[in-house]
Formats: sequence, structure tokens, C-alpha cells
Amino acid sequence: MDSTHSQSHHLLLGVTGGIAAYKSAELIRLLIKQGHTVQVVMTEAATHFITPTTLQALSGNPVFVDSWDARIANGMPHIELSRPADAILIAPASADFIAKLAHGFANDLLSTLCLARECPLMIAPAMNRQMWENSSTQRNIEQLIQDRITILGPGSGEQACGEVGQGRMLEPDMLLEGVQTHFTPKLLAGKKILITAGATMEMLDPVRGITNISSGKMGFALARVAMQMGAEVTLIHGHATAQRPQVSHTTFAGTANDMYKSVMQHIATQDVFIGVAAVADYSPLVSAEQKIKKSEDTLTIQLKRNKDILADVASLPNPPYCVGFAAETEHVLEHARQKRQDKKIPLIVANQANLALGNDNNSVTIIDTNGEYPLDTADKNTIAVKILTHLKHQLN
Ligand code: C5P
Repeated sequence: MDSTHSQSHHLLLGVTGGIAAYKSAELIRLLIKQGHTVQVVMTEAATHFITPTTLQALSGNPVFVDSWDARIANGMPHIELSRPADAILIAPASADFIAKLAHGFANDLLSTLCLARECPLMIAPAMNRQMWENSSTQRNIEQLIQDRITILGPGSGEQACGEVGQGRMLEPDMLLEGVQTHFTPKLLAGKKILITAGATMEMLDPVRGITNISSGKMGFALARVAMQMGAEVTLIHGHATAQRPQVSHTTFAGTANDMYKSVMQHIATQDVFIGVAAVADYSPLVSAEQKIKKSEDTLTIQLKRNKDILADVASLPNPPYCVGFAAETEHVLEHARQKRQDKKIPLIVANQANLALGNDNNSVTIIDTNGEYPLDTADKNTIAVKILTHLKHQLN
């Protein structure tokens, strides 16, 4: 992976007593998959919800609960465990543990090592909605914000107790995003970036359309990483199967025409435009108001050319820095070079359509005014990091 992003880090994961503790198992799995190492420390209450053995097996490290654990030779586990940590994440963070942090209590191993830490601290609150709304909890959270502790969530929805409201721990994938954001250098801070992603669907009738196999993975990865790099990201997406990232602004635009209008509505204030969406080049001349019935053996549909969003953005009087994608099945580089010229854009990313569309990995060549830069095949997140790091240098 790129050395400026998503390096492996050593995380100390604190698990406190709440039903959401069962989600810590999945969180550990995701953190490790991302290349991080995880040291788990639990409160005694947490062990009633999930066993240390489970978390030890998943993290590959012994789990600590007790301040007097004889496995730490010098008898100071709060120092021994907190010093190597690049960050501490408490997930779930109970109301009680949040109160302890706010007031500097150190009456168990986890609270003591938080007090003794030299690294950043993040917490993912998890509790009943009334406990979350209680003025004591809100006062404590205010205090933690003042103390520069990062609060991830909580989310809202149905709770384990059957009530509905705010207080649910964020899902593990969202917590992973929080951790990645924390560790990502803010290369794009202050930049506004508009990204299109996914496939458009050109409606033939109310229930059928012409589309393509774009999954949205590449565009979503770029949006996610740009956000982690500190950019204000506007994501305009068509149909997509990939999981959509949480960015500053998100709009669904199902057809090429809707996407065109939405992009033009937002473009004036943007520093960068990245057109990743697989926009249909043609759409039906007329879209039937009612479902088309089968009758003849053949059916002819007349198509009309759609407007080219990227080319039109690039030809605005004061265009943002424009990045295009060229997904081709043959003569990839030749077509990409030509497209960069035709659309009058400074940078295009060339890739093999049949390998890239819908897949987790991608193999691309960046082509810009200075030259051509082939990147190693990698997952789309890593490719996104490399493209955005390259872009950052171009913006300079
Ligand atoms: O011309 P072609 O569709 O191959 O170009 C691909 C690039 O142009 C992509 O960046 C895509 O998002 C963008 N594009 C667009 N509007 C269209 C067609 C493609 O912005 N109507």
C-alpha cells in the first residue's frame, strides 16, 4: 500500500460492557484485514457479553482485563500496553466508561491505560437512547470533545432493548472508516471534489432500462479515500451494488440526463471533478409511459446520443481540475490518450473494462500532461489512494 496512507498501525481496542461488544469481533477482523495489529483490553463487564478467548483468537494477541495480570513482568500493564499503541479505540464505549474518561478515573486496567496514554483516543458510544440523551452523558461527551477525544457515532435505529433512537454503536465497517480517516494524512484538506460513480440506466419503459455492469466500486473508493484525505466530497451516483461511503453530500442520479443536471448544479464551487460513472452514451429517443408489450418478433428501439458530462464540465469557462476514466476492451492506452485530448482534460485513468468493471481489483495507467504512469494491480481502495496522491501533486 502507499506509504502515506493506510500503513499498518497498532491499535489498542478497548471493549466495555454493552451488548454491542459482540460486534467487536467483526471489528477486529476488519482491522486485521486492513493490515493493522490489534491488542484487546476488556473491562470485567465486557467479559459477560463476549469472551476474551474469542477476541484473543481473532486478534492473535492475549487479551488483558486485570490491572494485576502477572503476564506483564514489570507489573505495569497500563504502561506496557498503551505505549506501543498508535491509537486507542474504545468500542463499544459504555455510558459508565465515558463518565470515567470525562472525570479521569483510573480504577481498572482500561481506564488506567487511557489516562496514561500518549496516543490519540477514539470512542464509539453504545447505550440505550435515554442513557445517551441524559444530560450527564451529554455533559461528559462535551468534556471528551474538549479533551480532543474523537467520538465515532453513535448511530440511531432499533436498539437491543427494543426501543428506537440514538445510541447504537456504529457498525464495524463504519468504525473501520473512522480509524482509516484518523490515520490518513489530510492531503486534500480544503479541496472540494465532485465524483460521479456507478452506472446510469436509460429507461425504455417504467420498469426496464439499458445499463452496464459498473458496480460503483472504483468511484466509491475514490469518494471514500478523498473524504479520508480531508476533502469535502460530493458524490453523484447512479445504480451501484458496492457499499456507498459516507461523504459530505450524496445524490442519486439514475439516468445520464439526471446525472448531467445534477453535476451542472453542483460544479461551480468545485476544485476537482472526477468522472468515474459509466454513463450511457445513448438513451431511448422515447421512453414508453407504460410497460412495452411483446408482439412482433423484433423490436427496434431508436437511441439518441447523450451529452458528455465530462467534456462539458471541462469546457466550462472556469473548469475545475478534471479527471476522466477510460474503460476499454482493446487498445486501452491509445483510446485513453485520444479521450484525454478529445475531452480536453488534464488527466485520464486508463483501464481494461472487462477486468475492471465490477471487480474488487483494478490495474490502471494514469495519463496526464507530464507522462504515463502504470500502477501495479491492486484493490480499488489502494488504486484510489494512488490516483488521489498523484492528483494532489498535479493540483500543486
Ligand atoms: O467517452 P467515454 O464514455 O468512453 O468516456 C469515459 C469518461 O467520460 C468517464 O470518465 C465517464 O465518467 C465520462 N463520461 C461522461 N459523460 C458521458 C459519457 C462519459 O462524463 N456521457
